[in-house]
Amino acid sequence: MQDDDGDGQRIPAVEALIARMTLEEKVGQMSQRAYFAHDREEALEAVRAGRVGSFLNVPDPATRNELQRLAVEQSRLGIPLVFGRDVIHGYRTIFPIVLGQAASFDPELVEAAAAVAASEAAAVGIDWTFAPMIDVSRDPRWGRIAESPGEDPHLTAVMGAAMVRGFQGSDPAAPDRIAACAKHYVGYGAAEAGKDYNTTYIPDGLLHETYLPPYRACVEAGVLSVMTAFNDLNGVPATGNEPLVRGVLKGEWGFRGVVVSDWASMTEMINHGYCADLRAVAQTALRAGVDLEMATHAYRDCLPALAEDGTADTARVDDAVRRVLELKHRLGLFARPYTTDYAPQEPTSRALKVAKELALRSLVLLTNDDGALPLSADVESIAVVGPLADDPNEQLGCWAFDGIRDRTVTVVQALRERVGDRTTIQYVPGLTSPLDTSRAGFVEAVAAATAADVTIVVLGETADLSGECHSRAFLDFPGAQVELLERLAATGRPIVLVVFAGRPLVLGRVLEHANAVVYAWHPGTMGGPAIVDVLFGDESPSGRLPVTFPRAVGQIPIYHAFKNTGRPPTTGFRGIPAGTPLDPEGFETSYLDLEVSPEFPFGFGMSYATIKYSELVLEPSHAPVGHPIQVHVTVENTGTRVVDEVVQVYLRDLVGSVTRPVRELKAFRRVRVEPGQRRRIQIELDATAFEFVGLDLKRVTEPGRFHVFVGGDSTADLCAELELV
Ligand code: BGC
Repeated sequence: MQDDDGDGQRIPAVEALIARMTLEEKVGQMSQRAYFAHDREEALEAVRAGRVGSFLNVPDPATRNELQRLAVEQSRLGIPLVFGRDVIHGYRTIFPIVLGQAASFDPELVEAAAAVAASEAAAVGIDWTFAPMIDVSRDPRWGRIAESPGEDPHLTAVMGAAMVRGFQGSDPAAPDRIAACAKHYVGYGAAEAGKDYNTTYIPDGLLHETYLPPYRACVEAGVLSVMTAFNDLNGVPATGNEPLVRGVLKGEWGFRGVVVSDWASMTEMINHGYCADLRAVAQTALRAGVDLEMATHAYRDCLPALAEDGTADTARVDDAVRRVLELKHRLGLFARPYTTDYAPQEPTSRALKVAKELALRSLVLLTNDDGALPLSADVESIAVVGPLADDPNEQLGCWAFDGIRDRTVTVVQALRERVGDRTTIQYVPGLTSPLDTSRAGFVEAVAAATAADVTIVVLGETADLSGECHSRAFLDFPGAQVELLERLAATGRPIVLVVFAGRPLVLGRVLEHANAVVYAWHPGTMGGPAIVDVLFGDESPSGRLPVTFPRAVGQIPIYHAFKNTGRPPTTGFRGIPAGTPLDPEGFETSYLDLEVSPEFPFGFGMSYATIKYSELVLEPSHAPVGHPIQVHVTVENTGTRVVDEVVQVYLRDLVGSVTRPVRELKAFRRVRVEPGQRRRIQIELDATAFEFVGLDLKRVTEPGRFHVFVGGDSTADLCAELELV
């Protein structure tokens, strides 16, 4: 294992400060305190005494400046504090949940959104966000899938790096930028049974191939901090995992930023049964490489004594302190510790524009029977049904605590705005909330649908059904929502369903009762106008699924990069015949009672045109290992509307010394295609696209045959073969 004790590029002012610090002051810099009004006096005293390095969740800029003034003017060394807060999918202006952002397959726009969030947060004195969350998530039961870019390591890496660039910019000390934090290192998304905080078992190869690469991408993008996770990973809590934190992250990858624990994830090592007491917690976390303890006080209470009696390595204490001070230095806090001009910010027109654009690009059209969408501009009457259609709170998503509610534009508001007096809009919620089981509102809703040319039904999950500690065992539409939809469908009038959700839901029967389905995630402040633009065809839907949609909870985990098995399914689903024989036909990997394919595959999403892929050429198609390959394909819009298509490139390595998935996403590109246009698209697969993690955990490219699939989703069948020699 490599270590991180090398000199790197040290900052002389930081080194001079470390030389003057007492052990208590050093340990103070390793402590991040949560701000609570009830222990305010103690907090102030701790700042004065130099026993705090950082705060999270300080409620307002005035309190921030007050704490900062104490640190700078009254503590012995005058070291400024650094203030953190979760700015996850927006601060005042709320963008789609991160899963929705990933559906845009548009890293530039995701970067722009993070930059807006950074500027809004920086304006009120937030120096540091605990984002991006880049935990690969293959289990929609897990509530935190909403915060993640989904199931795929490549997409997650691209989106994570984009968010890091957006938050930090080229100079994190700029007044409109903040430090980012890649979290939760590592494997948190693999929580068993999708239950939050649960144990994870990830074989080393999978860890290195799927869960670690997004972190590496963020480190390469210059992320200033990384958060260790809550979970027990293969028997060792992630927060106490020396080989992964000190070894891989700080050693192998040369990460020079701050490693912060998650909230109480240090002291929870006692609950895990990994540490006996607080002393052991402090010792274990220091050894593992945690520089800053969030919310608990094992370092504060135990580290000085451990360092004095020689149990804890003081060089490691110095290294941790150096990282924290360097973060403050990089953020410009020594030069400009206070926040000024902090009048509450209204979202700027640019912020709202980015929010609308990103919401637009996150919308995934799942079904569209007989061109039910787009709606005709001269539709005379529209009924809107569903409790989520006009709720400014719920469309904001799971991490929108600081979002401005009164700037949310709902579907009903946006519709009224768009159609003016031309079209009658009748809104009948039908249910008081998605959890409502009363049928009392059905009669009125059905009457409205019967009288209207078309009914837009907005159903799904409230924001609080996803996010931290909000896992679900059923992935259905809660309450009486499906029944409401059935009643509306029974009118025989056209039904367009818009789904708000923090995860893939099991759609099943729902699909039968709607002529078109738009999956909108939780789309944020500007969700309403974005949805209305898509419904009327001002823009063609262009979001693509960043995660596979299961047909049933029993299929989970289900994801596109699965292994073939020795008995891949060929016969398809036949149902359970009466008198099912003990010897099933085929003995193939399958279920007796459900087909194995997902409801909707990864990468899927329809548009208002038909796109044809052809003339796939690989250049060269025979190359030495390590040579980049150019993928050329023709994308033709055979429809009548301009669309954005997400061209996706998947790879299958046919034979490996470690078996390879049937498909892996390797590259993608969003391209605009005019009606009738044929565009020749070129996408490069660089040498790393062909690598995998060998049994020795080293990346390797093995010579042999590869299939390259190009198309509009992970089931694309246009394929060309390539040989590496
Ligand atoms: C979450 C983190 C978050 C932290 C601080 C924890 O409970 O797991 O994602 O950054 O709290 O709010």
